[in-house]
Amino acid sequence: RTARFTLDPAFTVGDVNPRLFGSFVEHLGRCVYTGIFEPGHPTADAAGLRQDVLDLVRELGVTTIRYPGGNFVSGYKWEDSVGPVEDRPRRLDLAWRSTETNRFGLSEYIAFLKKIGPQAEPMMAVNLGTRGVAEALELQEYSNHPSGTALSDLRVEHGDKDPFGIRMWCLGNEMDGPWQTGHKTAEEYGRVAAETARAMRQIDPGVELVACGSSSQAMETFAEWEATVLKETYDLVDYISLHAYYEPLDGDVDSFLASAVDMESFIENVIVTCDHIGARLKSKKKINLSFDEWNVWYLSRTEAQVSALDWPEAPCLLEDNYSVTDAVVFGSLLIALLRHADRVTVACLAQLVNVIAPIMTEPGGPAWRQTTFFPFAQASRYGRGEVLDVRVDSPTYETKKYGETDLLHATAVRAADGTVTVFAVNRGRTESLPLEVALGGLGLDSVVEHSVLSDDDPDARNTLAEPERVTPHPAEGTTLDDGRLSAVLEPLSWNVIRLA
Ligand code: AHR
Repeated sequence: RTARFTLDPAFTVGDVNPRLFGSFVEHLGRCVYTGIFEPGHPTADAAGLRQDVLDLVRELGVTTIRYPGGNFVSGYKWEDSVGPVEDRPRRLDLAWRSTETNRFGLSEYIAFLKKIGPQAEPMMAVNLGTRGVAEALELQEYSNHPSGTALSDLRVEHGDKDPFGIRMWCLGNEMDGPWQTGHKTAEEYGRVAAETARAMRQIDPGVELVACGSSSQAMETFAEWEATVLKETYDLVDYISLHAYYEPLDGDVDSFLASAVDMESFIENVIVTCDHIGARLKSKKKINLSFDEWNVWYLSRTEAQVSALDWPEAPCLLEDNYSVTDAVVFGSLLIALLRHADRVTVACLAQLVNVIAPIMTEPGGPAWRQTTFFPFAQASRYGRGEVLDVRVDSPTYETKKYGETDLLHATAVRAADGTVTVFAVNRGRTESLPLEVALGGLGLDSVVEHSVLSDDDPDARNTLAEPERVTPHPAEGTTLDDGRLSAVLEPLSWNVIRLA
């Protein structure tokens, strides 16, 4: 059977905020050290930043980059990470049972963003695990105040004359999680988040603040947590965060391929929770969603790895090597974000390099693209503009976790110049999926490109030995005649169809 949908310029979801293509750099494993930062590497600049990695980061098209954690931030002392490198202390990082040298810190992070280019924007998390309001304010003053106070002058003395201009701030990280250093109940967190937000706005009413939502939809406290936190913070914050990671459990690949069903319901459930609190408070304000950690992550393999560590520096941790199947799920997660672009206005792919990342590096050696690199780069490049409302009529398949699920998952984005890009996933593992799209009223008459990521071997991956084993290829036979697009989506595939 054929999957179908109709695109009409009158039916839209909303504009894509460039911040939807954010990412995340945490002091975790080799994300920073031997990832983005490796003094002595043949491509490193004077600041120790790997140029081969920077080139790939630019190609990936990331915008906002969240920093410095993650679980790491709940023990983070920002003062350790500034000033002369030789004076910076070594510290225990409780989150990842590692030793943090602080050779890379706040100033280096800002310099890294500048090197990426103007599209890169900071998103800084404050520690509300072991610390509180005072330290958040100190970090804000050090970072953003021009000069003439002890902390802003200290930044100038440290060599950063210009303020960092950090606009987006996360009020802690995953404070609902019992694994979090300084884990809190919703009531406790709601209070400290509100106090911190109020004080940070006293320094600068223009900051954009993210309150911690749930670490996943599966958390026992989900929804009640958001409601409680928002009752305290509704007028003080701009966003609530969502985090979600997916992996195949018990070999159930069919459910894994449908992971975006969970992601979409998570988003929709958070929206209704936010709007419910807004209604109770008789507020006209809408809270937007910051999906500031999302990815495929083989999390069940990680816990044992971390507990076996004996405080090494930058160990190999969470270095998942992604297959074609993983990339198709990953693409479907991107589609889920785009389909909710009216309310999900920030999203961060966790993470950027080496740690559950689209970019991998060898210390002293090359950097390469994982399979997941391609869907992200294509979505960031062609997914800018207005999301069109896509309601699919698709054949279905049965999954253990989500019941009957559409084989087709799709969205479409109309750029300012009127061109349209369809992003589509065929979740079917064995059969091709014919697709027909009615494009009435869009004034399109040609297929510019139909790019596919698929492989005869769904387990194929890119590695140091074979870094270009998997790359997108052109599809055959895609046509656009009389306002009707016809294509065939290969089994288990991520598709980008560009129309002009
Ligand atoms: O991204 C890896 C970890 O996942 C982050 O540190 C934490 O916030 C989440 O649990």
